[in-house]
Amino acid sequence: MPFDAGVVAEIQAKSDLLQYVSQYVTLKRQGREYVGLCPFHSEKTPSFYLNAEKQVWHCHGCSAGGDLIKFVEKYENVDFPAALRLLAARAGVVLQEAPGAQRRRSEREAVYEANAVARRFFADQLQRDKRSLEYLRKRGIAPETAVAFGIGYAPDGWEGLTKALERSGVDLMLAERAGLVRQKTGYYDFFRNRLMFPIYNLTGEVMAFGGRALADETPKYLNTPNTVAYTKGAHVYGLHLARRAASADDTLIVVEGYLDAIALHQAGFKNAVASLGTAFTPEQARELRRVASKLYLCFDGDAAGQAATARSIDMLVEEGLAVSIVVLPAGTDPDELILRGGAEAFRTLLAAAQRWVDFKIELACDRIASKFASKSDIAREAMSVIALVRDPIERDQYTKAMARRLDVSEAALRQARLHSLKAPPRGNVEGAPIRRAPAPTQPVSIERDLLQLIVSRPELLPEALESIAADDLEQPEFRAVYERLGYHARDLARGVNPITLFDEDPIVADLTRMALALPPLPYEDDRHRLALIAARFERRRRERRLSSVDAEINGLITSDRAVPEALRDEYNALAASLRGPAEHTREQD
Ligand code: GTP
Ligand code: MN
Repeated sequence: MPFDAGVVAEIQAKSDLLQYVSQYVTLKRQGREYVGLCPFHSEKTPSFYLNAEKQVWHCHGCSAGGDLIKFVEKYENVDFPAALRLLAARAGVVLQEAPGAQRRRSEREAVYEANAVARRFFADQLQRDKRSLEYLRKRGIAPETAVAFGIGYAPDGWEGLTKALERSGVDLMLAERAGLVRQKTGYYDFFRNRLMFPIYNLTGEVMAFGGRALADETPKYLNTPNTVAYTKGAHVYGLHLARRAASADDTLIVVEGYLDAIALHQAGFKNAVASLGTAFTPEQARELRRVASKLYLCFDGDAAGQAATARSIDMLVEEGLAVSIVVLPAGTDPDELILRGGAEAFRTLLAAAQRWVDFKIELACDRIASKFASKSDIAREAMSVIALVRDPIERDQYTKAMARRLDVSEAALRQARLHSLKAPPRGNVEGAPIRRAPAPTQPVSIERDLLQLIVSRPELLPEALESIAADDLEQPEFRAVYERLGYHARDLARGVNPITLFDEDPIVADLTRMALALPPLPYEDDRHRLALIAARFERRRRERRLSSVDAEINGLITSDRAVPEALRDEYNALAASLRGPAEHTREQD
């Protein structure tokens, strides 16, 4: 955990899962649990379960689950630290961090505060500046949209903002480090006579500004230089507004310009963000990835745009994003497109988006074509890209499209494909579903029982650790879970929800399911349960030991050597202890 466990416990003590989730999900009581429609996938019959006592939730439909922090992460589409900050702010808890981090953070917070003052100042100024208001109107930006994006105006003087910052008690040296003012003989405004676009971080603080010239001055855009709160090229514009909408279908629309993202929001595409420049950086890709895994990449259909997009795709795909390409008519940006054709015009383009594979195929074709390659070479190369597509129906569609594009018959193309492909693995005939042997039924495991009990009743962990060591668990994932629980025993004793320790771990869904599945019993009964589990572990330990002693003795006998007395004694003692009735202590896996 990146934060002090005491603070996490305090946040958890002061927050309530049921209350939080109820803001977004209508829950009905059903026995020990609350049930509702899962906010993380669309469904008609409720499969979202919440247990208020254990402070865990789980969806049987999509297998998502976890504690309150996990819910906030998923619902607000933020990472663990950001979720914690959101909850801390609600609960009025101060987050403590390492001193170095604290200093950096407090400078960053101070920059955010200075930027917040600046944003308010710019927004006020906008209302007084007829020319800017007229400009927005001409560009089709509604007043509500301007408010939602915090758009403002930096007046033409030299010290409008400087004075406003001073009045609000912002230290001008800090304002300089925030990139808001500059210093010569005195301080003066960095942004003058520009339309101001705040760039927000995921949690809604202003990291920086982009200032657009109102006429033809250069540069067209003036941006905040690098500060402790902002690194050029590491962020995208509009993500704080888009993340909610993006979580619905796990998709973002990426455009180039501020005004494009704004126009899209206004037209109802609320999952639009802007890349603020041409080539994507891995940092930006990761920012996007934190919010969605699918992207529509919009780009200008001219050659330069095409080349820039090709470069971006590889990087985005490498970061695990599924990319589709929206090709705009050459020389048009989404903003103009929507002004002229409305939301419908853009929707049509979205529907016609190309998957990145298509785009790659076209590029491959162009590359070969430019080398005067023969049509059959092009066909073979293209088909080898198509072969990477897993879905047989899609593959078929690609082949058809390719045939049209190359103006050859489909049959000829499929022929080319046969030459370019290795024989398909046996039993995987195209189009036929792959047959799998039925999965073995999950054996009842004492390891699972142990974790289930501890996750539901962490108070029992110290007692469990006395008789069961992590090495006693044989299933690697379960051993890792038990180890981590043991490592954080003190945090758990302070009230940290055990599920929280696994927030970043795929096993979290499994653990919440276990926690929910265990019927609640009084503390003493749970202690008894632990005693039975410990006895089963002890028995298993002896069985394992018995079989290894047995093997050792056999080895000695086969190689004609004497069996030491001690080994014989151990064998007999183990065998005797295991001979007794073991009804409820028998290991079943
Ligand atoms: P409009 O031309 O008003 O529609 O704005 P736009 O946002 O569509 O700008 P454009 O398509 O020209 O550029 C796309 C993006 O590139 C902008 O939103 C900026 O982020 C960036 N950009 C464009 N020009 C400049 C510039 O002169 N300086 C900087 N730093 N960035 C720029
Ligand atoms: Mn534009």
